[in-house]
Formats: sequence, structure tokens, C-alpha cells
Amino acid sequence: MTVLHQISVDLGDRSYPIVIGSELLSGGFDLSPFIAGANCLVVTNETVGPLYEAALLDSLCGRQVETLALPDGEQFKTLDTMVSILDRLTASGFSRDTTLIALGGGVVGDITGFAAACYMRGVDFIQVPTTLLAQVDSSVGGKTGVNHAAGKNLVGAFHQPRMVMIDTNTLSTLPERQMKAGLAEVIKYGAIADLEFLAWLEDNMQALLEKDAGALAHAIRRSCELKAEVVSDDEREAGRRAILNFGHTFGHAIERCQGYGDWLHGEAVAAGMVMAAELSGLPSGDVDRLRTLIETAGLPVASPDIGEEAMRDAMGMDKKVRSGQLRFVLLESLGHAVVSSDYDDAVLSRVLSSAA
Ligand code: NAD
Ligand code: GLY
Repeated sequence: MTVLHQISVDLGDRSYPIVIGSELLSGGFDLSPFIAGANCLVVTNETVGPLYEAALLDSLCGRQVETLALPDGEQFKTLDTMVSILDRLTASGFSRDTTLIALGGGVVGDITGFAAACYMRGVDFIQVPTTLLAQVDSSVGGKTGVNHAAGKNLVGAFHQPRMVMIDTNTLSTLPERQMKAGLAEVIKYGAIADLEFLAWLEDNMQALLEKDAGALAHAIRRSCELKAEVVSDDEREAGRRAILNFGHTFGHAIERCQGYGDWLHGEAVAAGMVMAAELSGLPSGDVDRLRTLIETAGLPVASPDIGEEAMRDAMGMDKKVRSGQLRFVLLESLGHAVVSSDYDDAVLSRVLSSAA
């Protein structure tokens, strides 16, 4: 077991560490300092559980631990699934000092975090993310929730984990398509906040696709540092945190119009980032640079053929809408994002009409 990096999300007395390392699960990384009581519920899914649950349970011996495997898939990111966690907690008589442990990708993490936010008005939870997307994004920052028929992640709560444990070895079993989807969020950080990191990604994309351990550890560390800094500054998205949604207004609309689970979240965000860069009015060379990087990562660079009207309808439910006005995360330059409602509607129409 090797701990490679430790990053702090600074939120006063709710601050917590993100521990990044290899073989943390098989090496029995000690979670005790982050578990207050005797009861733990490990929430995973039917895919990840058989791969990593046993190692996690070994490290929790001596406590009253139960496990719950959710069905696998974005289509199960629903209130019903969240309630199935609450049902287990009540049936087992778990008390207020229970800790939930989310073992899986962003779907398991978001649902479990929301259950932790709701049970007895809030119990502790720990994130053990096992997809690249969850390791660089969803496990950090305390956004929890589920989808609603009217829109993605429309029901949820801000609830920070007690810690995030990232074992990079879990990526060894992650399917290639899921790796690429995670790379979309990694590219996002370079585009919105760190031009030097974007250039590093251009030089190292092949190594990342080949799951080179050193390259992955660097990409995960830098992504988590950038996310931790933004979240520490604006936990509840009063302002700046919204830049983390670069490409997501378009991406969420694509996901919603297609039905969740067709394109992966990261794939929709990838196309959405190119669309947002076009709407930003960047010099065409900069848009091309971002498009090329996204293409090199094996990700889509244009929306499927959905149509302007359907996309506009879907974007109307975006959480950044204020007083009926759409707001987008736009790039002032590569490496510097702002949230703005100052965009050219004719360019938006063109962006929405141009499909792959
Ligand atoms: P996911 O959780 O659906 O995982 C993808 C697939 O990989 C699933 O089939 C899963 O079972 C499987 N899997 C997970 N780990 C594995 C492993 N190590 N080996 C083999 N298979 C594995 O998808 P995701 O991309 O991790 O997360 C997407 C979700 O995250 C979306 O619902 C999105 O809205 C949410 N999200 C939340 C935030 C946030 O801030 N809370 C940020 C970004 C995305
Ligand atoms: N993934 C966007 C956020 O955490 O704010």
C-alpha cells in the first residue's frame, strides 16, 4: 500500500482529506479515524461489489458492518433507489452515529451521499470512488442527489464526506469507455482553470489512455487539487463553483434528450465542452486545440442530432438558470472560465443546430 498524495478540502470544522494511493483497499488502509460509531453500511453496486467489497470489509472488521448492492446504472439514480438505502438503515436499526461508505462510481456516490444527508437529518459518509470520473470529480465537494424525470440531479443536498479514499488500482478493471468518460472531466479542469495542466494533458493523453500509473496519479492529484480549491472557496455554488459545470449545460441536455444511460455523462460533457468553447467566442485556434485534445481522448466533439428546440427545452431546467435567463460557463481564454449570461443567441442557435 502506498499513499501518494493527500489533499485537503478546507471547509473549517468540516474539512476533510482526499487520500490518493495505490493498493489502499488490498493493503487495508485504516478508515477508523473517520468512523465515529460502531455501525457501517457499505453501499456498492452489483458490478463493483464483487470486485472490491471483500477488501473493504476486511479493513472494517470489529464493527457492525452491512452491505447493500444497488442495481447498476444511471437509470437507477432515482429517489426509489435512495429510499432503498433508508429502508435498510431503518430495518437494521442503525443509529445516528452510523457511517455510510460509498464504494463505486459517481452514481453510487451521489445516491449514497444523498441517503447520508437524509437519514436522521444527516449521518457521516465516506467516498471510495472506483471510476476515474468519480475519483477526479463526483466524490469531492459534497454534491449528492438523484435524477428526476424533469432533469438530471434535480433532487439532492450538499453533504460533505468525512474523507475520500482514492485507490488508483481500482482503475485496472474499469472498462475503456468509462476511462475515456472520466478523462472528459480531467480535461475540464485544464480548460477552466489551468492552462499548464491542459498542455500536460496534450503531452500525456496516450499514457493516460494506457492507464500509466504515474500519469494517472498526476492527473487525479491535479484534478482533485483544482476541485478542492474551488469547493473550499464556494461550497454551495453561490458563484465561482459553477465553473466546474463547464460543458454541462449542453451535456445534461444531451443526456436528458437521449434518455439517461445512452451516452455516458462524460461523453455528453465532452461534446458540451466543445459547444461551450464555440459559444465563448474563443479564437478558432483555441477551440480547435480543445477539440483535438478531446478527440485524442477518444471522446465525442459534437452533439448527436437532437435539434435546437429540444435542446433549448432541456436546457431550461438547468440549475444555473436565473429568472428564466440561461447562463453558461464560458471561457474568457483557455484556462480561465467565467459564468455568464452574456452570449450571442445567434451563435447559440448555430451551436445547437450543428450535430455530429
Ligand atoms: P457510474 O457510477 O455509472 O460507473 C460507471 C460504470 O462503471 C458502472 O457500470 C459501474 O458499475 C462501473 N464501475 C465502477 N467502478 C468500476 C471498476 N473499478 N471496475 C469496473 N467497473 C466499474 O458512472 P460515473 O461515470 O462514475 O459517474 C457518473 C455519475 O456521476 C452521474 O450520475 C453524474 O451525474 C455524477 N456526477 C456527480 C458529480 C458530483 O459533483 N456529485 C460530478 C460529476 C458527475
Ligand atoms: N461537478 C460539479 C461540482 O461539483 O460542482
